[in-house]
Amino acid sequence: MTSIRSIRMLSILLLAFSFIAPPSSSHSQQRKDIEKEINALLARMTLEEKLGQLQQLDGEGNGNFRPEHRDLARKGLLGSTLNVRGAQKTNELQRIAMEQSRLKIPLLFGFDVIHGYRTILPVPLAEASSWDPAVAERSASIAAAEARSSGVHWTFAPMMDIARDARWGRIVEGSGEDPYLGASFARARVRGFQGRDYSAPDKVLACAKHWVAYGAAEAGRDYNTTDMSERTLREIYFPPFKAAVDSGVGTLMSSFNSLNGVPASANPFTLTHVLRGEWKFDGFVVSDYTAVQELINHGLAANEKEAARLALNAGVDMEMVSRNFNQHGPDLLRNGQLSQATIDEAVRRILRIKFRLGLFEHPYADETRERSVILSPANAAAARELAARSMVLLKNERETLPLSKEVKSIALIGPLADDQQDLLGSWSGDGHATDVVTLLTAIKAKVPSATKINYAKGCDINSDSTEGFDEAVRVARESNVVIVAVGESAGMSGEASSRSSLDLPGRQLDLVKALRATGKPLVVVLMNGRPLTINWIAENTPAILETWFAGTQAGNAIADVLFGDVNPGGKLPVTFPRSVGQEPLYYNHMNTGRPPNANEKYTSKYLDLPWTPLFPFGYGLSYTQFRLSNLQLSATRIRPDGRLIVSVEIENTGKRAGDEVVQLYIRDVAASVTRPVKELKGFERFTLRPGEKRRVEFALTPEHLGFYNPEMRFVVEPGEFKVMVGTSSADEHELVASFEVQK
Ligand code: BGC
Repeated sequence: MTSIRSIRMLSILLLAFSFIAPPSSSHSQQRKDIEKEINALLARMTLEEKLGQLQQLDGEGNGNFRPEHRDLARKGLLGSTLNVRGAQKTNELQRIAMEQSRLKIPLLFGFDVIHGYRTILPVPLAEASSWDPAVAERSASIAAAEARSSGVHWTFAPMMDIARDARWGRIVEGSGEDPYLGASFARARVRGFQGRDYSAPDKVLACAKHWVAYGAAEAGRDYNTTDMSERTLREIYFPPFKAAVDSGVGTLMSSFNSLNGVPASANPFTLTHVLRGEWKFDGFVVSDYTAVQELINHGLAANEKEAARLALNAGVDMEMVSRNFNQHGPDLLRNGQLSQATIDEAVRRILRIKFRLGLFEHPYADETRERSVILSPANAAAARELAARSMVLLKNERETLPLSKEVKSIALIGPLADDQQDLLGSWSGDGHATDVVTLLTAIKAKVPSATKINYAKGCDINSDSTEGFDEAVRVARESNVVIVAVGESAGMSGEASSRSSLDLPGRQLDLVKALRATGKPLVVVLMNGRPLTINWIAENTPAILETWFAGTQAGNAIADVLFGDVNPGGKLPVTFPRSVGQEPLYYNHMNTGRPPNANEKYTSKYLDLPWTPLFPFGYGLSYTQFRLSNLQLSATRIRPDGRLIVSVEIENTGKRAGDEVVQLYIRDVAASVTRPVKELKGFERFTLRPGEKRRVEFALTPEHLGFYNPEMRFVVEPGEFKVMVGTSSADEHELVASFEVQK
């Protein structure tokens, strides 16, 4: 094992180095050494042992492994598990692989650590609302440290599917609708999970998922088919994945959906041509849960043997849960339907990552470390700060917010006001509801003890009963201010949680109406995993705070914002429609030949509602005000390979310190294919003191200005470009300029 140890040290250096410098000759020597080590292993492996590396099996729901796993690990017929976790449990199974198997190849323990392991951070859509990738990076690094201490090597995250349709429940797991924002967050999360070296005791291997176009499920129904042009794939759905691969992500997960007739888990174009050929990805691809088996339902494979053949030959390396690679691999090889080289290549990719994870040298978790890392006070403090940074102030008339801590009495009402479980959101890792600070608990801790807090649940999240309304109205009448916490349950978004309505479920809207009728100052706190159609609330209540599902410290973070200890600065990473009938609704759409015009019937709009969103992408308010001015471009003409600097001044014109997100959009006015009306190409979140002014600069390069032309070549075409700088995608005060690209 000494050579393996030295290779590991080399691989650490190599990974660290790869972030700061192009590959050097010693770097490639180190890579060669790992490959040599893998070749030596491959030469000793039987076919069964090779196929064993390609198999991932599920543990039990409580984190235990299954009895069968012992036997498979002993025989070298298991490469990885999912959901097995806890230092002691993973060590027990790992010991079997390391001490009793012939080749002593370590097992790889995977788990869905999506927004926290035990300390639960805001759901990913919330973190994207911070428009601050550093939020996601810190969050992922907290999750990584806790998970690794608990024996988890590999997270099935980040999820980076672009989602343009709020019906799709998994919109909560990603960064929203925009490829540029999505790529920024993909990079940040990969950095947060993997760091410079994912063999470190506080880092995990990341998995970019779901490759690809899963977020475009037709009608927003989970697992549904997607069909789109190669241009849309490359320009909208690929960029976060490309960013992840360029950031060194070690694995990808092939998705459930069919893509233009070829399921993504058997798609040679995406899995091999693009990923390996164009992007030079050298990690491995795991199928999503039983996605290989599901090739039969898709109607691509006639039976399990064909499913294995199609997935392996297309470029899936590891099969999650179903066992077709293992069961049919030998037969396929005998019949010549699968080559030895294909199997060896899949094994090679998996072993490569096991080496990079340092598992050959450090296969075990440190059980004492686990106790000090999990749910540490530092992690709780960070969770609170990051959650507050992720909230979006949607409305604040007459400065209803922030609330004074000196108010005599507060009514706190709503099914989510004292809820623990739902605040964890979907995919809450090993999070415990009992760890969650509710809004009620947090407000009690925030205000002086003399302040009276009148709590009433009012109604359930999703039932027809209005029994609790009378009490809710009574406590509202007795109080100086009313806060109502409404939204969805955690289970209403996430996997297999598509909705055909985006309304507040149950009788919650009626509850808000009843409270509004009391005439008391009313603050609506939303907790939800997707955009909701809240038209009545938007029109009739003075203050709305979008908090998503904010995690273990949700209550504290919300109270920090409501009472002004934190000035909210988040922005929506997704469009909020007025009606589900507008979906898919997104800001970066193409124009039509008949752009909407309220005064002309034969234009692109609806008879029964405006075409515009309720709240646009990029929108969010603050307790202070900002003004943008003095937009400047470094040139009025550039060459196609040129670069342009856009700069603008941002000033805090209000009375409090606060954050604003300056957003740069472009439009290619006329091109060989139609271009979006607006595309985000730069953003930055700033904190400014009252009266403070700062000049902000963004660079526009060919990477920002280019697109795929009719021949599917990425080009920057000559012609006029519009530059728009604002504080949302539909900012009436946005500043506009233009420049020309000239040959
Ligand atoms: C989900 C994946 C997840 C996997 C393992 C699947 O059902 O689609 O996102 O990583 O299960 O839990």
